[in-house]
Amino acid sequence: MSSDQKNPTGMTRRDLLQGVAGAAAVSSLPAFPMPALAQGAPFKVGFMLPYTGTFAKLGKFIDEGFRLYVEQKGGKLGGRAVTFLQVDDESKPESATDNMNRLVGREKVDVVVGTVHSGVAMAMAKVARDTNTMLVIPNAGANEATGPLCAPHIFRTSFSNWQTSFPMGKVVADAGHKNVVTISWRYAAGQQMVEAFKEGYAKAGGGGKIVEELYLPFPEVEFQALLTRIASLKPDAVFSFFAGGGAVKFVKDYAAAGLKDKIPLYGSGFLTDGTIEAQGEAANGIKTTLHYADNLDNPANKAFSEAFKKKSGQDADVYAVQGFDSANLLDIGMTAAGGDAAARDKMVAAMAAAKIDSPRGPISFSKAHNVVQNFYLREVRNGRNEFISVAHADLADPAPGCRMTS
Ligand code: BEZ
Repeated sequence: MSSDQKNPTGMTRRDLLQGVAGAAAVSSLPAFPMPALAQGAPFKVGFMLPYTGTFAKLGKFIDEGFRLYVEQKGGKLGGRAVTFLQVDDESKPESATDNMNRLVGREKVDVVVGTVHSGVAMAMAKVARDTNTMLVIPNAGANEATGPLCAPHIFRTSFSNWQTSFPMGKVVADAGHKNVVTISWRYAAGQQMVEAFKEGYAKAGGGGKIVEELYLPFPEVEFQALLTRIASLKPDAVFSFFAGGGAVKFVKDYAAAGLKDKIPLYGSGFLTDGTIEAQGEAANGIKTTLHYADNLDNPANKAFSEAFKKKSGQDADVYAVQGFDSANLLDIGMTAAGGDAAARDKMVAAMAAAKIDSPRGPISFSKAHNVVQNFYLREVRNGRNEFISVAHADLADPAPGCRMTS
């Protein structure tokens, strides 16, 4: 549909896309009294993503990656025309239930695609379970979403927090680092990634220890006192989780504090993905683990990276890949359902069995509906997150507490 053509509800695409910023974006749109399925209405995708704040770029790239896939399919998923609604969740867990209820109750979307922040995603998963809404999580790693909160209609195309950081424990242990400090934001993602790193580090058996765990509240970026503490502790290495705008500032401040050449900085890959241009020289040499690297040498990545650059004028990153794959997964489900999102059982069965040739490499889904994939060790070289090795092949989240795994 072009921007000015009317869909069956009488709205133009321009009407639907207006007002991205602010949680009020959706409430400013006319309500849809009928479920989208009626009368061949378009498949309604509700994006609940951060379009402002420290994770704004992450949300934007997920959104653009998703739309790229839909464009490549002629504006359709499973042969059905698609319309989009957007809610800016601002990475605020306290607004998440209301935002979700608006998309599900008032706007009657067929699927919610969101979000980035683990705390927001947990609230979304609870509403999705209560309302039996299809939810595709294109980033947030909260272990609970595909653990105790797992459900047949909840899929995650990104990672669990555990998956991203468990492999880094072995990398750091194998490098011979015996005294390690961790630093992150104090919220679900930071705490779960640090726990997973510690688990991998202990299991690797190098005999090293975690000398201190440093935290600051999300989304604060006043790192100075903690960097001074790191300098005084003089560890052999630092493991960190930050993302988006916070990661840009952390990496620059770490270098400016004179730590970069003294204490090697490691992290889950969000530290340098989508942030590398803004970090410049300060990022060079940082090693991270993630399920994507800029130079992965496979045809799907080549085609995707070129198409994304052409569409957005920017280099693709892991968030764009996750958005693209989320649309791919829904396409598989909608195709199996003959374009009828109400044929939920067919849709879920096809999505659970999906095998996708992703730009990140081959992916499939665990019984808990979390993605199974390779995790790569990468190093920042010449402004790119370059592939070094496969840190852990075909890694599945253990999904403790998920009833679908037994
Ligand atoms: C999270 O909150 O789960 C998250 C946010 C940004 C990057 C990775 C994970």
